[in-house]
Amino acid sequence: MKSLLTTTRVAALALGLAVSSPLISHAQKNYKPTKENLAAREKFRDRGFGIFLHWGLYSIFGQGEWYMTNANLNRDEYSKVAGAFYPAQFDAAKWVAAIKASGAGYLTITSRHHEGFSMWDTKQSDYNIIKSTPFKRDILAELRDECHKQGLGFHIYYSLLDWHRDDYYPIGRTGQGTGRTKHGQWKTYDAFMNAQLAELVRDYNAEAIWFDGEWDQDINPGFQWNFDKMYAGIHKINPACLIGNNHHGEVHPGEDFQMFERDVPGANTAGLSGQAISKLPIETCQTMNGMWGYKIIDQTYKSDTTLIRLLVQTAGRNANLLLNIGPEATGALPATAIDRLEKIGKWMKTYGKTVKDGVREGIIPPQEWGVSTQKGKTVYLHILDWKSRMLSLPLTEKVKSVVAYDTRRPIPFQQTKLGLTLSFDKAPSEANAIDYIVEVTLH
Ligand code: GLC
Repeated sequence: MKSLLTTTRVAALALGLAVSSPLISHAQKNYKPTKENLAAREKFRDRGFGIFLHWGLYSIFGQGEWYMTNANLNRDEYSKVAGAFYPAQFDAAKWVAAIKASGAGYLTITSRHHEGFSMWDTKQSDYNIIKSTPFKRDILAELRDECHKQGLGFHIYYSLLDWHRDDYYPIGRTGQGTGRTKHGQWKTYDAFMNAQLAELVRDYNAEAIWFDGEWDQDINPGFQWNFDKMYAGIHKINPACLIGNNHHGEVHPGEDFQMFERDVPGANTAGLSGQAISKLPIETCQTMNGMWGYKIIDQTYKSDTTLIRLLVQTAGRNANLLLNIGPEATGALPATAIDRLEKIGKWMKTYGKTVKDGVREGIIPPQEWGVSTQKGKTVYLHILDWKSRMLSLPLTEKVKSVVAYDTRRPIPFQQTKLGLTLSFDKAPSEANAIDYIVEVTLH
């Protein structure tokens, strides 16, 4: 068993999947979210769908964001690539417009990933986009401004772990071969992180901070991240700023939303989930292809049908979908990613109302055929997998009407004490190939 676990872990690491194990962590004790925070949580839920952007120096190598540790690249050699970072095609207005047109309500951008390079004008280190690249443009500020202009939520990803700095010590489970031999002190790293976070929350107006990498220290028993101080610091600057942490465990006090990686809440196909589902707003993140950061050989893009169904499946489980794109080093979004954004956007134009803007999971729990979503007295049945012309539903509330969402044609129904049965005159094969939506109005 032990060796099987180890093999799984090694394979997962090579894929850039973070494997978790329980850690002792103190978080913001006795945390009581403010009114503004609770309102921000509802807004986050309403937005329903976001786009994740993994962009950093790693995009230049085109081997995914874990290349530095997977290939054991020396950090001094690796960092030279900053001198070649000049994404001439980067256009924040274009990115934000493309994301907005997909129906997404927010984006989450990597400010500093595990490689340790900061994509904004941070005052805490010169290893950043302004001081260390010929590009010298603050892409984070540009994206923030465009999000504000175009009405998109602006969330920021922040890596807790660092494969570059000497003071990220003790070294964790990853990044052991990146050539850090002089060990610094954790307290300077801790101060560095908290100062960077203050910049992101105060100066960059992060509506949410998306932490990642806690699991890196699970090899060092008793290790403390001091989330208590970190979370309290963020909430002190902006009480409405939402904190989420991709630790794959149960939520720590002080967190405002919970995330699941590569799986809808309740499922665990990627081996990263299994933690209890909290009452907080939930977000599931997933890649469009296989990797988060741009990877040349990774052209295994999921079809638009698969992605739209994933969005529907998450909505039916009261979760947002955070769908990832790895922009290229040129500053362009990959053509296939743009194609998927457009196709999702086309679907969202007609059906977005059934998965976002105040829509939550429906009264009927997820079923084999699909899921339900709901807003007030309107329940949407999303039939993703047709089984037969009859559909029996565990719904005992009194029903007023049942219509096909597209055509508004009434669908014959019968209600008994046991539930609701719908009979469709259409053969399943004629049904909408992506998601056949039935609108049920309750009394
Ligand atoms: C994992 C990976 C990381 C990625 C994140 C996104 O934690 O380690 O590279 O950014 O998942 O969910």
